[in-house]
Amino acid sequence: MSNKEIVLLNQFVGEKTELHGDDPKAMLKILTAVEKASTNVHRTINKAGLEDILGAAGSENVQGEQVQKLDLFANEQFIENLKGTGYIAAIASEENEEIITLNETGEYLFATDPLDGSSNIDVNISVGTIFSVFKRTRKGTPKKEEFNRYGHEQILAGYVLYGTSTVLVYTCGHGVHSFTFDTKTNTFALTNASIKTPEKGNIFSINEGNYNTLEKGVQDYISYCKELNEKGKRTHTARFMGSLVADFHRNMLKGGIFIYPATADAPKGRLRLLYECNPIAMIAEQAGGIATWGAERLLAIKAEEIHQRTPFFTGSKEMMEKALSFLTKESEYRIQESEKIS
Ligand code: AHG
Ligand code: MN
Ligand code: MN
Repeated sequence: MSNKEIVLLNQFVGEKTELHGDDPKAMLKILTAVEKASTNVHRTINKAGLEDILGAAGSENVQGEQVQKLDLFANEQFIENLKGTGYIAAIASEENEEIITLNETGEYLFATDPLDGSSNIDVNISVGTIFSVFKRTRKGTPKKEEFNRYGHEQILAGYVLYGTSTVLVYTCGHGVHSFTFDTKTNTFALTNASIKTPEKGNIFSINEGNYNTLEKGVQDYISYCKELNEKGKRTHTARFMGSLVADFHRNMLKGGIFIYPATADAPKGRLRLLYECNPIAMIAEQAGGIATWGAERLLAIKAEEIHQRTPFFTGSKEMMEKALSFLTKESEYRIQESEKIS
């Protein structure tokens, strides 16, 4: 194997200022803090089973879900490292009911799912961290209402995938860039600049355990994905890991669609707007894909509270357009039905 020229994360962010928005220095500081926190999370995940870090912490989070020990560890890592930057006024985290104030003079807000897919840790399956950054519109003591923003206002969004290798993927609105963690040097090095997702794809990712509770349009799209071609061969393939970051990352690179719609268990959708869907949607769009909540662009939603949930559809352009065509039929059908009733 030949060695490639190595560009470290801090070099890339420091040098390519045109890709890093209005305040590249702040982006460098924030991304460096994310890099440090995720390095610690990477190390700890890789010791799972050898040290007492697996399993439940014995409490429930604000969503009523079992908190895993690694959820708490990851949360602490991000809070501590971001506090050190001085740039972050407050964090909204999946693991904390209320926002956490870090620095009243900080000009930015940070939202995070510090460990996504955490029920997968005990069984050695990929997990992730998702994060999103807004610029504040006011000064002084941060209030949680400040997080009630449109997704398109994000100035930095990204995720870290702790997979067969650990990768950090982010965008500041000028392309999607990915960096791979080198365990020898403990650094993240550029592996893919300006990622573009294929326009077509054949992977569909949805938890089909929910099938019978889904709206007809989504069911019809799943059936469409299972149709055979004229030679009797499958046209699509199904993949669902239960870790949004892993499912999305695979689909972004290979071409596919990820759907977490409204279900009977989660009538408003399961995934959280601020720290799961918004950042993934920004990355998806920057890579040339589409992200919606079913009826319109996901980034056009204005958050109403920090732990708000939403249905989520994201992926390659052609697959998304096809899926949305089924949903449109369904909404038209619903409109006709309601007209009949009235
Ligand atoms: P978290 O571990 O942060 O609660 O998130 C898990 C999420 C997401 O990663 C995944 O796509 C989804 O939950 C899986 O939900 P189901 O088990 O309902 O399929
Ligand atoms: Mn999650
Ligand atoms: Mn989580």
